[in-house]
Amino acid sequence: MHLIQLLAASLAVSVSYALPVQEGAKKTFVMSRKPAVQYRPQAKSATLVANVTDPSVSRDSCGSVNMGGRTLWTCRDTAVRLPGTDQFGWVFTNTVGWTDHHPDGSPSIQTGGPAGAGSNGTNNILLMKGPQPSLPTFYALGSNQCPSSGVCADGTSRWTSWPDSPPMVSNTAQDGTATAYTWISNNHITSSGFQVLTTQPSVTLHKMTYKPNTNVNVVPTVKPVDTSFWKAGEIAYGTYGNVVNGGYAYLYGLLYPSGVALARVPVNSIEDKTKYQYYVSGKWTSTKPAIINPAAAVPNAGTTGQGTFYYCSKAQSYIWIGQNSPSVWADFYISTAPSPEGPWITPYLLYSGPNGDAELPSYSLQAHHHLLRKTDDGIYLTWTQYFKPSTYNAYVTPLVYVSFV
Ligand SMILES: *[C@@H]1O[C@H](CO)[C@@H](O)[C@H](O)[C@H]1NC(C)=O
Ligand SMILES: *[C@@H]1O[C@H](CO)[C@@H](O)[C@H](O)[C@H]1NC(C)=O
Repeated sequence: MHLIQLLAASLAVSVSYALPVQEGAKKTFVMSRKPAVQYRPQAKSATLVANVTDPSVSRDSCGSVNMGGRTLWTCRDTAVRLPGTDQFGWVFTNTVGWTDHHPDGSPSIQTGGPAGAGSNGTNNILLMKGPQPSLPTFYALGSNQCPSSGVCADGTSRWTSWPDSPPMVSNTAQDGTATAYTWISNNHITSSGFQVLTTQPSVTLHKMTYKPNTNVNVVPTVKPVDTSFWKAGEIAYGTYGNVVNGGYAYLYGLLYPSGVALARVPVNSIEDKTKYQYYVSGKWTSTKPAIINPAAAVPNAGTTGQGTFYYCSKAQSYIWIGQNSPSVWADFYISTAPSPEGPWITPYLLYSGPNGDAELPSYSLQAHHHLLRKTDDGIYLTWTQYFKPSTYNAYVTPLVYVSFV
């Protein structure tokens, strides 16, 4: 879709949702039991803390989650540094890495380290560790998806298996064993130009389990539960974001042509499609709405740009932080709501970070609330900074702490 069409479509959508009429009664009810003034943090200060990196690889579009007492980062395209050079090659479509945090939860930043992607040997890094030197694709490509690299033999197209959101931990057992899930769109794109060959593709549900292990080369075991959990043309619930709270997993997915839809499922029944409910016209229903149904939209639950949902117990608020849409800049927008269904406030600008100088200067904006200490009032943010190869020949993932007022 052209940018102008996209703009026109999202404008049309937001105008129709601005009508208060059909929502009036419901809103009064919600407001009467929730604070009337919604949480609306602003940035007080911002600190560029470090680059998140394993300098021996160049990693695109990383998100993170606390799993089994460690921080697991799941990333998209990952290229291996050719030893003794500043060149990277041999791309894997997705990989994972671990970073350490202090007992209080804050990231374990080090000054200096190996030189490579995002590290000149002296700047601050949050060091990613993990299987070396080999980097198997973490979320496997399907048997029809030109395995194992995803690049098809004729070279004209590729399957991506790109995670849009980090794993969603559904359960942590007494012994620390974590169970987690990720929904990944079965994207098929042209090798040149990133044109989508299947609009609204099917979605694979991947399940992970991880028993805490001191060996950083041990990563979660992961297997696809269903390679067509959501069918082509259905709303890809879970890909746009998720949040677990109060025994439910809340799963967000994008509508077509625009808007954000919401489903929920008891957190122990992620694999059971009969247990899913969908939020349509302000009510939960077991009938899955069509991807073109505007009544399935939760207004302002994200801009439709990439981001992260989380729950802040201190503020008793659900929060989404991510990129505006459309945008190619490190401008972090924020919206908040007293419940996953809303009402979400109109997203507003929280923080603007440094950009790259390539065609897509900044993308994959993410928030990392699990890195906060109990005493912190703020949020950790990352994004992919993308440069022209002549400027800098690797993806850079800056980590910024933004404190709130
Ligand atoms: C991250 O890496 C880039 C490229 O080497 C560098 O310019 C930048 O200063 C680094 N940022 C931090 C916070 O160390
Ligand atoms: C490494 O990067 C840091 C942060 O950008 C900078 O202050 C420092 O001078 C650089 N060191 C070298 C050896 O280039």
